[in-house]
Amino acid sequence: MKALILVGGFGTRLRPLTFSCPKSIVEFANQPLVTHQIKALVDVGVTDIILAIGFQPKAMIERIKQFEEEYKVRIICSQEVEPLGTGGPLRLAKEHLVKDNPEGLFFVLNSDVICDFPFKEMLTFHKNHQKEGTILLTKVQDPTKYGVVVSDSNGRIERFIEKPKQFISDKINAGIYLFNTSVIDRIPLEPHMLELNTFPTMAKEGQLYSMDLPGFWMDVGQPKDFVIGTTLILESFRSKNPSVLSTGQNIIGNVLIDPTAKISPSAVIGPNVTIGPDCVVEEGARLKNVVMLKNSAVGAHSWVDNTIVGWDSKIGKWVRIEGLTVLGEDVKIKDELFINGCSVLPHKVISSSINEKGQIL
Ligand code: GDD
Ligand code: MG
Repeated sequence: MKALILVGGFGTRLRPLTFSCPKSIVEFANQPLVTHQIKALVDVGVTDIILAIGFQPKAMIERIKQFEEEYKVRIICSQEVEPLGTGGPLRLAKEHLVKDNPEGLFFVLNSDVICDFPFKEMLTFHKNHQKEGTILLTKVQDPTKYGVVVSDSNGRIERFIEKPKQFISDKINAGIYLFNTSVIDRIPLEPHMLELNTFPTMAKEGQLYSMDLPGFWMDVGQPKDFVIGTTLILESFRSKNPSVLSTGQNIIGNVLIDPTAKISPSAVIGPNVTIGPDCVVEEGARLKNVVMLKNSAVGAHSWVDNTIVGWDSKIGKWVRIEGLTVLGEDVKIKDELFINGCSVLPHKVISSSINEKGQIL
C-alpha cells in the first residue's frame, strides 16, 4: 500500500522551533514527529511513503535514508517548487501514487497530527462504504481552528466547512484520510486546498465518508498543543507500552527520558516531561510539563514548568521558567532569572528577567 504525508507548509505557528527545522522533524516524544506516522503506516502494511515537501527541503531530504532504514520502508520525496497547499501535492505525486497500486487506495496524512492511528479500521470502513474517500473525525472544544464536518448516522458527510467563524459542530477533520486514486483527478496541478475545494465537492456528491477516531488526538502544530499532545501521548504509552517510561524515586507520573541524558538523582522530574538525547538536568532542578530537545540543559535548582527547551539551549542555575515558554535552538538563560510565557528566538542570550507574558525575544 501507499501513503502520502503532507510535510510542507511553513510551520509558522510552531516558531521559534521551526526556524531551525521543518515542523515534521521536530522531535515529539523524543522522535521526529513524522516518524510516529511512518511507523504506524508501516505497521498496517504500507510499503511506499511519499513525503510531499515544500519549505526547508534540505533538512528533510537529509533524514530520508535514516527513516527508510529504521522503519524498513521506501520513501520518495515529492518536492514542490511553490507551495501547493494540502491538495496540489497529491496531484504532483500522481505518478508515484498510481504506479504499482493494484488496490487503487492510498492514505494521506497531515504531518502534525498525533493519535493511535486506526489505519486498519479505516481500511475496513472504507471498503464497506465503497465511495471515494474516508476521513477521520475527532471532537474538540474549539472547532474554529479546524475543518468542521457534518455527517449522517452512516458517516456520509453532508457538509465540510474549513475554519468556520460560527459554531456548527464540535466534530472536526482529524487530518487523516484514505482515498481511492480517482480522487487525484479531482485536483488541479496548482496550489489547491483539499479542505476548501475537493472535500465540499465530494461531500455534495456523496463520495466522502467519515469515521470517528477513538482515543486521543492532537494537532501539535503550535506550542500549547505540542505540550498538551506530549501529555496525551505519554498517557497512551502508559496504557500500551509502559516500559518505555522512566521510573525512579525522583520521577513523578509520565516521563520519557533518553538513555543518553544525564539526570541528577536529586532533580525531581514529572509529570509530563520528555528529555531528549544528551540532555543534562542538574541537582535539585524541578521539571514538569516540559519538553527538552537534544543536548539542552537545566541548571541546578531551577524550576521549569510548561516549557519547550530547544536543541542545545542552556538554562542557568536558580532560574524559574513557566507560562508556556518556548526557547528556540541554542538559547542561553543566565542564572537567577524569571521567564514567564515567552518565545525566545534561536541563538539569543537572555540576561534579565521577563515578567510579562507573550513577548518574543
Ligand atoms: N507539501 C505541502 N505543501 N504541505 C503543506 C502545505 C504545502 O503547501 N501547506 C500545508 N502543508 C501541510 C502541513 O505541514 C500540515 O502537515 C498539513 O499540510 C496541514 O496544514 P496545517 O497548516 O497544519 O493546517 P491546519 O492545522 O490549519 O488545518 C488542517 O488540519 C486540521 C487538523 O489538524 C486542515 O486539514 C483542517 O481541516 C484540519 O481540521
Ligand atoms: Mg495543523
